[in-house]
Amino acid sequence: MLTDDILSTTLETGIDPGNPDIFKIFLDDLQGNILKGHGRDYSVHLLLRFKATPAEVAAWLEGFTKQYVKSAAQQWQETARYKAERLSGGVWANCLLSCQGYEYLGIPPFKIPTDKPFRLGIKNPDIAQTLGDPSASQWENGFQGDIHALLLLADDDSQHLQNVVSGIADTLEQIADIVQRDDGFILRNAAGQVIEHFGFVDGISQPLFMKSDIDAAKEKDGGFDQWDPRASLDIIVTKDPNGLTEDSFGSYLVYRKLEQNVKKFHTSQQALAQTLGVDNGLAGAMMMGRFQDGSPVVLSDTPIPDNPTTNNFNYDADTAANKCPFHSHLRKTNPRGDTGRVVSSDDVAQALAMEKKHRIARRAVSYGNADLTAAPETGSGLLFLCFQANIENQFNFIQASWSNSANFVKVAVGPDPVIGQPQGTQQWPSQWGAPTREAVSMPLCITLQGGEYFFAPSISFLANL
Ligand code: HEM
Repeated sequence: MLTDDILSTTLETGIDPGNPDIFKIFLDDLQGNILKGHGRDYSVHLLLRFKATPAEVAAWLEGFTKQYVKSAAQQWQETARYKAERLSGGVWANCLLSCQGYEYLGIPPFKIPTDKPFRLGIKNPDIAQTLGDPSASQWENGFQGDIHALLLLADDDSQHLQNVVSGIADTLEQIADIVQRDDGFILRNAAGQVIEHFGFVDGISQPLFMKSDIDAAKEKDGGFDQWDPRASLDIIVTKDPNGLTEDSFGSYLVYRKLEQNVKKFHTSQQALAQTLGVDNGLAGAMMMGRFQDGSPVVLSDTPIPDNPTTNNFNYDADTAANKCPFHSHLRKTNPRGDTGRVVSSDDVAQALAMEKKHRIARRAVSYGNADLTAAPETGSGLLFLCFQANIENQFNFIQASWSNSANFVKVAVGPDPVIGQPQGTQQWPSQWGAPTREAVSMPLCITLQGGEYFFAPSISFLANL
């Protein structure tokens, strides 16, 4: 049985599902995509509002789970098979419930996952105020009413995925309305790297739980001496109150449809470059914390040719933030020890340990226009998804206390220029490495179109509703 001690201990070597010992029951009952992304190129998100009787809905969800939803153990077997034989694992599926979904199914309140923001729902005005979000009345219609469940489907074959989804939609009709459908895809640059619409390589830095991921990262980055991405399970999973095994766990998912105004972002990037007298690439890197190819701007004022996507770095040699601004998206969302330095250097290790508890597992995909030359102003963006064990202490904390806050680490550094809400004025190094500052204001280039908080229950619960 997985005790609190096991759950809170950083996984030094990571979980090896080939040799699962204590993790076997856990991996068999946990939905996949939580400890590691499913890796498919195309996805469809169906947001549901139930309409049949609870018994009918339960029967449908049970059938769906048995046919499509894969466990973490199955995901690992598929990945191993893909590596050995290049055989695709086929359609991917997750099934998640909102708090209102649990209530609809008649689950008693003491059996509904307890996370406070999850219970309130993302539309709650207090939550909206905490996150700086526009009110739900400004969101896309589909997000405005009750949402009970999210079905996440994915495949590498886009046509096959569409066919499977239309089959599922046909039977779904008996028990639920699809109130919102978001189709996502993996956007790639010319080098084949995964990027987001502003053009930056994305998904590099993640907390790692699996042995294969830890081994690969260690080899790629030559070790973890500057940044250790390993994590403990208590940041990603929490006990499923309805699970039927001794090690039944689930994870909270934050779902946010973030429209990106690409044209506006590029215009403000150029304006920043002009004001600072630096090239466009460096201005973008100061906003994001990495150059478009992934190179951390704290390490160099130009992209690094070897291993640009390294994650083995920290801000110890840039404590004044003269190279990588405190407010850059990367430094705000993962300060790598910064929050301890404001007090005294003795507190860095302790602060780092606290900061690491705020980490999230990002599972975002892009939506909208896949033409990289288009620079859309509307209709394209990021379907931002992240898993965690505690929404308040993880996603909400990062967004509200770090990204939105103008006074993070030092006074008046300004909000994160990528996701900070509301936007404001940042203090930018006048040049890379310079101690002097230039005040420049960034406009908001992302707009929340809707979202919800979900829980990914254990498979034993979903298959025996
Ligand atoms: C990292 C873009 C929204 C949290 C990154 C990176 C990019 C990026 C390009 C660097 C790649 C990497 O290190 O993995 C974006 C864009 C967003 C967005 C374009 C919106 C449209 C968010 C949100 C959050 C978030 C809403 C959470 C509140 C993070 C975290 C990292 C990251 C935790 C890793 C930082 C690190 O470990 O160094 N993002 N992001 N991002 N982002 Fe975002």
